[in-house]
Amino acid sequence: MTSGFGDTSGFGDTSGFGDARSNGDTGSNADTRSNGDPAGFGGGDAFDVQPAALSEGDQIVSALPAVDETEVEATLRPKRLAEFVGQPKVREQLQVVLESALGRDRPPDHILLSGPPGLGKTSLAMIVAAELGAPFRLTSGPAIERAGDLAALLTSLAEGEVLFIDEIHRIARPAEELLYMAMEDFRVDIMVGKGPGATAIPLDLAPFTLVGATTRSGLLTGPLRDRFGFTAHMDFYEPAELELVLRRSAGVLGVQLTDEGAVEIAGRSRGTPRIANRLLRRVRDFAEVRADGVVTADVARDALAVYDVDELGLDRLDKAVLDALVRRFGGGPVGVSTLAVAVGEEIETVQEVAEPFLVRAGLLARTPRGRIATPAAWLHLGLMPPKSGIAGPTLFDT
Ligand SMILES: Nc1ncnc2c1ncn2[C@@H]1O[C@H](COP(=O)(O)OP(=O)(O)O)[C@@H](O)[C@H]1O
Ligand SMILES: [Mg+2]
Repeated sequence: MTSGFGDTSGFGDTSGFGDARSNGDTGSNADTRSNGDPAGFGGGDAFDVQPAALSEGDQIVSALPAVDETEVEATLRPKRLAEFVGQPKVREQLQVVLESALGRDRPPDHILLSGPPGLGKTSLAMIVAAELGAPFRLTSGPAIERAGDLAALLTSLAEGEVLFIDEIHRIARPAEELLYMAMEDFRVDIMVGKGPGATAIPLDLAPFTLVGATTRSGLLTGPLRDRFGFTAHMDFYEPAELELVLRRSAGVLGVQLTDEGAVEIAGRSRGTPRIANRLLRRVRDFAEVRADGVVTADVARDALAVYDVDELGLDRLDKAVLDALVRRFGGGPVGVSTLAVAVGEEIETVQEVAEPFLVRAGLLARTPRGRIATPAAWLHLGLMPPKSGIAGPTLFDT
């Protein structure tokens, strides 16, 4: 793992355990499982939505990292708290937690970061290690299949090390139970032998800091949640904050970006830095080929039209869903399966890729009777919303 935060080579090696274990090195498993990238850094995100399930070409405004984005994301990651844009509350709270830990010369409490993909959870976890001057280890919930995997990892941690478990809500149950004691008392029980003769050998761990990240904090069990001393909930970014993200990224990438260009891209980025950075790169490509390389508002607008991203950040799939809902089903209510057939997509794709943002943007509502279009959706399509506000049963309703 090349985290860029100090030398992790002395700590990153779990091969001593790998030798004894049939499935090898826990650390690298985490990386290869989660995103298929053996270089495994940064984009080590594992998500409930599999990017492969999306139709090609519609992914430009996905909040999930694309497979080939690992490297560029690592370049663009803020490395210190001061570079981390936006989320003022989280930043301030975290600063206090870290400073007081440094003052006491003790590892800080365990930290839970929750929020949608692409908002900077992995970046913040690395920043925690960087600010503490501590080594950093990355793994993910789905990669920890057995309690033994976790025990091997935990016993190899150096004092003060920051262990990042991404998608921690997906950790296997026996491993989670082991984690309770490790987090609370810095101790694990290693099971030796099998059946009635099995014995538990208690092992002390070096005090460490666990940073857990989750996109689904509701799925965390109570006991696990309770063991985090500090929980930060990350929220979508304001356009002004995304403009700052974009200006910073433009600086790193050497892209000339005007203020108006930044405004134009920020407004279409769905409140998500990962998307902002991706759109910036696409617009930069366009600017280099079709213009003089400078990203102005006009260039951004033209480029994003080419990539099918509209003023609200809706892409082709989002628009198809809205269009079907409004034009074909009179604004609903209509079941998600019918809607999926109407746009020629899998139900999961509609449900997990398009709908969350449409709901957040106030364009679509999920009701027990089905999906309905809000008046804002009609207006966005250039249509007058029906008088009653939200459409009642229509011809298509059965
Ligand atoms: N606050 C921020 N300031 C600057 N860039 C950010 C910020 N948050 C996220 N990013 C950018 O977005 C990308 C995705 O962030 P990441 O930490 O991987 O998100 P998550 O782990 O929540 O999915 C990173 O490459 C980083 O460049
Ligand atoms: Mg992440």
